[in-house]
Amino acid sequence: MKPYCLTVPLTQLASLAIIAGALASAQAQPALKDAFKNTFLIGAALNEDQFSGKGGCADSLIPAQFNTISPENVLKWESIHPDPRHYRFSSADRYVKYGEKQGMFVIGHTLVWHHQTPDWVFLDGTGAPIGREALLNRMEEHITKVVKRYRGRIRGWDVVNEALSEDGTLRDSSWLKIIGEDYILKAYQSAHAADPKAELYYNDYSLENAPKRAGAIALIRKLQSQGIPIAAVGLQGHYKMDWPAPAQLDETIQAFAALGVKVMITELDVDLLPPATHSQEAEVSMNFELEAKLNPYTNGLPDSVQQALAKRYEDLFGVFVENRKSISRVTFWGVTDDNSWLNGWPIKGRTSYPLLFDRQCRPKPAFDSVIRVAQPL
Ligand code: GLA
Repeated sequence: MKPYCLTVPLTQLASLAIIAGALASAQAQPALKDAFKNTFLIGAALNEDQFSGKGGCADSLIPAQFNTISPENVLKWESIHPDPRHYRFSSADRYVKYGEKQGMFVIGHTLVWHHQTPDWVFLDGTGAPIGREALLNRMEEHITKVVKRYRGRIRGWDVVNEALSEDGTLRDSSWLKIIGEDYILKAYQSAHAADPKAELYYNDYSLENAPKRAGAIALIRKLQSQGIPIAAVGLQGHYKMDWPAPAQLDETIQAFAALGVKVMITELDVDLLPPATHSQEAEVSMNFELEAKLNPYTNGLPDSVQQALAKRYEDLFGVFVENRKSISRVTFWGVTDDNSWLNGWPIKGRTSYPLLFDRQCRPKPAFDSVIRVAQPL
């Protein structure tokens, strides 16, 4: 037998088989939104490229996999209302239109937050701190303008984001310092008046930890007693490999459900990189020095770690599915590992692997384990 004749066609055949296999598996790839269609909505936060048809391989993945979207940045105050006299709606308009075209449940994120809000909001024309009434007016005007613009189209709003500190007390933000505690109530009242049919949410991180959870429960109860129809609490879900424990997550979901509100996982990702800090906070202003030992997987993820991530996702979705009557939505913060904020936080320049799709939009073993959890449903 002449080896030459045999090797060339075999190599070509092998490549053809790989391509055919990849095509077949892309076609046969199950969809998260179908797997969980009787369970909860499944979503992703999108950046501007992704809802403008410039997201590369994510462009076909997004409508195939998800039935709800959140805007990563375009509805934040600094994007939409950068100076006192101007609103810039073009990107947000495109985001909402994209979601409608795809028949998705469109989320608004976020109206009142202590980050990504320009300094001018808290200052008067002379650069001095603004007073309570003026800031209240400004906040109410902003909420009314933005919520009314998308009335009936944005179906649910993160009205207030991250109003609590880790000990469960109210965060000492400029909103609290200038207006006082009732800024929260006023924000929800304005949003409700601007679109009475939109769902109103409270969204925060590390609510799985008991002190902060207790603070959130007190906050929700207070809003309910003041007549605010809070529809759901958003657990951001910026998780680690070892936090929160499944039992802690389960307990948290049940504690909020007992208030008569739904629970949503709104910004899910799992950080498997070595921690720069032992804090469980997802405080966006944290920033640590890049060191090689904190960025070990620049050339790809070892299989053992890939499998550990798959197991972690299996456990998390196990808890979500167990609590499916209380959970209305699970949204990932990003689509592929490539565009996750965890490549830049809390250390800039790392290679992170927190999501279900890799840098080429291929499903990871974690995707398969999530689909497996959904199988019996
Ligand atoms: C917080 C915010 C999000 C986003 C993430 C990190 O969780 O709610 O809007 O900024 O941080 O990207």
